[in-house]
Amino acid sequence: MRFSLAVQVSAALVLSVSAADIQVVVGAGGQLAFSPPNVTANIGDSIVFQFQSKNHSVTQSTFAHPCTPAGGIDSGFQFVDSTSSTLPPQWSFAVDSAPPLWFFCAQTNPANHCQNGMVFSVNANPDGPESFAVFQQAAMGNAAEVESAAAAAASAAGSTASGAAGASGVTTDGVNAITSSFGSLTGGAQPTASVLTGGEPSSTSSPLVVAKKKKIWRGPSQEVWS
Ligand SMILES: *[C@@H]1O[C@H](CO)[C@@H](O)[C@H](O)[C@H]1NC(C)=O
Ligand SMILES: *[C@@H]1O[C@H](CO)[C@@H](O)[C@H](O)[C@H]1NC(C)=O
Repeated sequence: MRFSLAVQVSAALVLSVSAADIQVVVGAGGQLAFSPPNVTANIGDSIVFQFQSKNHSVTQSTFAHPCTPAGGIDSGFQFVDSTSSTLPPQWSFAVDSAPPLWFFCAQTNPANHCQNGMVFSVNANPDGPESFAVFQQAAMGNAAEVESAAAAAASAAGSTASGAAGASGVTTDGVNAITSSFGSLTGGAQPTASVLTGGEPSSTSSPLVVAKKKKIWRGPSQEVWS
């Protein structure tokens, strides 16, 4: 008992020593942006949002559906009264898991902030298929970017992202979710064969006809292609 209590106390100490506050400004200079738009955080860190303009939110979504609330972490709308001298609203949450977290601003009036690229991520892998940049492109309706990233992820994982795992079309490779469903992205279109990259084209759908050429040897200084 004594021993396990000591372990718990020292674990708590380690947490409290390493926990940090990570500051993010929302709507700096009236822009539709989080600054910085992505952060790296440890479990136990808090992300502290300071709302400086308009009427923004920090609303959790998923990589597959950047502009759709996932029913998770949500600041609600934080209205900034520019005529008031009170301090701007501040809101924070503590990071309690290591995998990437995805967020957007849910404001749609008078413009859709998410579709203007107002998204935010925690612990996105900049070098993987699910980077902040790809997430932001998807939010802005560029579904082809996400499709090619998912195809690359599927081929890297040696599996096919079939969407069979559930209605959301998300399968996992044990580390990151691989998205395979794009039809419901706002502004997105069903992927077509031509936007699939990184996968083997199927024999029936490939539009490519590769002309066959033979090299004919006509001596040391002549090569002729027919
Ligand atoms: C903030 O935006 C939300 C969503 O558009 C709206 O319902 C709410 O009334 C706005 N708040 C203020 C004070 O304008
Ligand atoms: C965060 O965003 C910056 C600028 O868009 C980018 O250079 C960086 O790679 C991103 N980091 C991650 C973790 O995606």
